[in-house]
Amino acid sequence: MSREDLHLPQRGMGSTARTDKWWLQPLVVFLVLSAFVVYTTWAALQGEHYFAHANGEHYLSPFYSPLLYGAAHEPYWIAQGIPSWWPSFIPFSPAMLILVGPGLMRFTCYYYRGAYYKSFWADPLACGVGEPRKGYRGENSFPLIMQNIHRYVFYPAAAFVLVLLYDGYKALWFTAADGSTEFGIGVGSVILIMNALLLGGYTFGCHCARHQIGGFLNSLAKRPIRAKCYGCVSALNKRHMYWAWVSLIWVALTDVYVRLLSMGYITDLRIIF
Ligand code: FES
Repeated sequence: MSREDLHLPQRGMGSTARTDKWWLQPLVVFLVLSAFVVYTTWAALQGEHYFAHANGEHYLSPFYSPLLYGAAHEPYWIAQGIPSWWPSFIPFSPAMLILVGPGLMRFTCYYYRGAYYKSFWADPLACGVGEPRKGYRGENSFPLIMQNIHRYVFYPAAAFVLVLLYDGYKALWFTAADGSTEFGIGVGSVILIMNALLLGGYTFGCHCARHQIGGFLNSLAKRPIRAKCYGCVSALNKRHMYWAWVSLIWVALTDVYVRLLSMGYITDLRIIF
């Protein structure tokens, strides 16, 4: 049989024969991700109102956790105040020291890559829709080959989830009027614990986590325990996109809640005293 190369016509940017609302999903992704990046950057640069404690609660914003450096009444990990090595001409915010970890996890996530390549770079805009370039820019060369760092970023991201779980546990303990510590559940406790669980569902459903927990093996046929672990991660991985969006929105709302509490605009409702 003879072989011929097919030369398909190049579509112009955005031209398509599709009649559905193909533009809706990339548009929503663009708007939500842009709003998240703008809000997170603003919140991280504030350097204040990230810890609510006025009514005995201990609610720390996830954007600032782990809090490496903080004020005397805050649950800091390393030292009080601003680190001595911090350049004096840059305003300090503890969030700047830690947000690169979870930020890199999202930025290099396989799911988000597919979503923001479409929404921000139109590469491609959607299946069967003309794009603004003729060549294919794969991930085999610089700079996009750097995205492979994702498999290593998983480890610190998993540690962040454990820290946030600890914050959720701390949110179950309140300082009483006489200075003692008592168990309770407030709306903020539920919000912080949910935040850790949702981020856990996202992080431990990662494609890399599945490979790593499967023992980095290509075949699991004779490894029943590894296969079980792989199957557990697969259960989360199946809905990775949903975990990604719900945890993204929830983590931002958690910061909003702690911020409003700390600023005195709202009061935490105690469900169980
Ligand atoms: S693939 Fe999304 S977090 Fe790893």
